[in-house]
Amino acid sequence: MRLAGRHVLLGVSGGIASYKSCTLARRLAEAGARVDVVLTRAAAEFVRPVTFEALTGRPVLTSLWTPGTALDHVRLPADADLLVVAPATADFLARAALGLADDLLAAMLLARTGPVLLAPAMNDAMFAHPATQENLATLRRRGLHLVGPEVGPLAEGPSERPGRMSEPEVILAHAERLLHGAGRLSGRRVVVTAGATREPLDPVRVVTNRSSGRMGYRLAEAAWARGAEVLLLAGPGTLPDPVGVAVRRVETTVELEAAVREALPAADVLVMAAAPADYRPAAPPDRKRSRQAGALQVTLEPTADILAGTRAVRPVGAVVVGFALETGDAVAKGRAKLERKDLDLVVVNDALEPGAGFEHETNRVTLIDRDGGERALPLLDKRAVAEAILDAVEVRLG
Ligand code: CTP
Repeated sequence: MRLAGRHVLLGVSGGIASYKSCTLARRLAEAGARVDVVLTRAAAEFVRPVTFEALTGRPVLTSLWTPGTALDHVRLPADADLLVVAPATADFLARAALGLADDLLAAMLLARTGPVLLAPAMNDAMFAHPATQENLATLRRRGLHLVGPEVGPLAEGPSERPGRMSEPEVILAHAERLLHGAGRLSGRRVVVTAGATREPLDPVRVVTNRSSGRMGYRLAEAAWARGAEVLLLAGPGTLPDPVGVAVRRVETTVELEAAVREALPAADVLVMAAAPADYRPAAPPDRKRSRQAGALQVTLEPTADILAGTRAVRPVGAVVVGFALETGDAVAKGRAKLERKDLDLVVVNDALEPGAGFEHETNRVTLIDRDGGERALPLLDKRAVAEAILDAVEVRLG
């Protein structure tokens, strides 16, 4: 429950994108937040209050004039950890920029002193209009945070200009980052590697392994949510880029090594969650090998140990995390890797355990730190494992 104990005020103004706000309300509630939804009169025409009530388990506010709620427009904005307005229509942005307080949501925005996140959504021409652009510039200057709009299909048809509201998952990620505020990873540069590398056997075939990259992706997304500036060096795969994270694709272990070397001087944290190929075919031919040639013997040569190779070039004070994927006697082997690769933290898992290791959404790991501390975690989803790893990283960053 990443947002347990957090109070989010979710304002919804009247645009067709308000149907997506139902999912956003749900995701916030699932993450443990207490979600109070405020609908403008137009929003309540699109989605009925009872929908949000059922999704959040809380009463929905729609008017300044509901008996018994006389001071909600000042009390709730003062109490909430975050005010999100999604969608924020062109009309709402105009009223916000003017500082009007002509309905409950506008009054709440005016009374709000803490962080505000706006997710604009409107027709692309309305978004491009100088009035809207000037209103947005005003709101940005006042310190309000914006997410989107994005380019994509609108209710009225295809569009190649911004207008479409960001997806609920994207808004949630931005909300979470703001809720973390000035966390200990705020402003830190975190480099995460993820996934398998691929070594050519010939121009069409490769040698690789079963790593999906999920653990690294979850680490990158969790580090960004904690305020870090994150670079993800990822092997080939189909996982969607995490929100806010800079992603650089690599193919071979040599490419990954070069990318790590380039990124390392500016890094505060390096997490090597990738599974680089340990062997590569020696001297691959530049033509496809034909099956007609019969049985194939290939000499595999070991690749460089990227992590161990960074020892001499790590910035002073950088926290370096490695993984150890074993098949039996995992903790002892993990300790040996921590020593050999000179790590601050090693995340050990046993590929033979059910639900752990490659190709799962879950993992069961043991964290071992440089000072001998050892913490065995239960079977958790990989995002929760990522949070536990980052907790340990934050302790070591001091
Ligand atoms: N690693 C690396 N370069 C490699 C292979 C692995 O930097 N060529 C990193 C991995 O990203 C991981 C750690 O080293 O963080 C341990 O990887 P693992 O495959 O468990 O260990 P190896 O070093 O390959 O050792 P062994 O094959 O003896 O288990």
